Amino acid sequence: MTTTKQILVIGGAGYIGSACVARLSAEGHRVTVFDNLSSGKRDAVSEDAAFIEGDIRDAQALDTAFAQSVPNVVIHLAAGKSVEEGEHNPEKYFSINVVGTINVLEAVAKHDVPHLIFSSTAAVYQPHATGVYSEEDAMEPLSVYGTTKLIAEMLINECVRTQKLTTATIFRYFNVAGDAGLRFKEEKAANLFPLIAQAVREGRGATVFGDDYETTDGTGVRDYIHINDIVEAHVHSINEPLHGTFNLGMNQGHSVLEVIKAFAAALGYDVPYVVQPRRAGDAGTAIADVEKMHTASAWRATHTLADMVTSTLETYGAKN
Ligand code: WQD
Repeated sequence: MTTTKQILVIGGAGYIGSACVARLSAEGHRVTVFDNLSSGKRDAVSEDAAFIEGDIRDAQALDTAFAQSVPNVVIHLAAGKSVEEGEHNPEKYFSINVVGTINVLEAVAKHDVPHLIFSSTAAVYQPHATGVYSEEDAMEPLSVYGTTKLIAEMLINECVRTQKLTTATIFRYFNVAGDAGLRFKEEKAANLFPLIAQAVREGRGATVFGDDYETTDGTGVRDYIHINDIVEAHVHSINEPLHGTFNLGMNQGHSVLEVIKAFAAALGYDVPYVVQPRRAGDAGTAIADVEKMHTASAWRATHTLADMVTSTLETYGAKN
């Protein structure tokens, strides 16, 4: 039996947050969600969890939420997460992802919270030839989004070094896909899986951004990991606190065309597509070396690409 903890999930109404909240509530933990509902959904929050509407840029609101929830653990997921939006509106991303995280860290210190779990991203890495990234690789993000996440990581590590925070788990998510059973449909989906599912539902072709990368078929290769496996990594770190920075992925790459083929296999018919120019800021290959996480914990990603495809199709109404 795991020890019941009081967990504050900041951004707990979002795609990943709501799945974490459901799982942690089911485990018997006392969960409080803090979310401004800018992209999160109120009805996605487990009924077993307390809900406080608020914005991480409002330090006072955050302080009140910490005082009310008295957390042993804080999971900080609230952020702007669109590479493209960050390029067009860097000041918004500085405000949410950096100032917001500073506000969280101030509240963590003030309320003596011993453990912070932070969602970071593969976008912090400097692209290199092999495209397989370990936690020790150089970090020189290509995007504002990646830069803000790297700055947040550095601030968290400074809080650890100055003993303002005892345990910090920094998870660098690679490409999260699939649905955790909450049928969480992102309104302004910008990632490959929901965009293919939406194209299928609307009877139009998918878009392939670039087919001239140095990959087997010329299209971008990514390490897709099922949202349930991401959630399980957080559960592992709640039950046995992990201290450090860990990639979360499958150590496997799939190209855009391979993903489109996987959708076709699930649907039983071909999915047409149109090749467009590369998207600014996209790297060719990004695959997670997950050795460090496997050594530090019993966690293993177990869901398949087909699981991600099927649950995405069901969520976006492209397959009943
Ligand atoms: C995947 C691949 C595209 C859409 C970003 C962030 C990352 C995380 C996930 C937040 C790329 C190609 C995409 C389409 C396509 N965000 N593509 N047609 O850019 O790898 O990662 O989102 O945590 O931190 O960096 O994800 O799903 O947008 O793209 O060909 O319609 O699919 O070029 O190769 P990305 P993505």
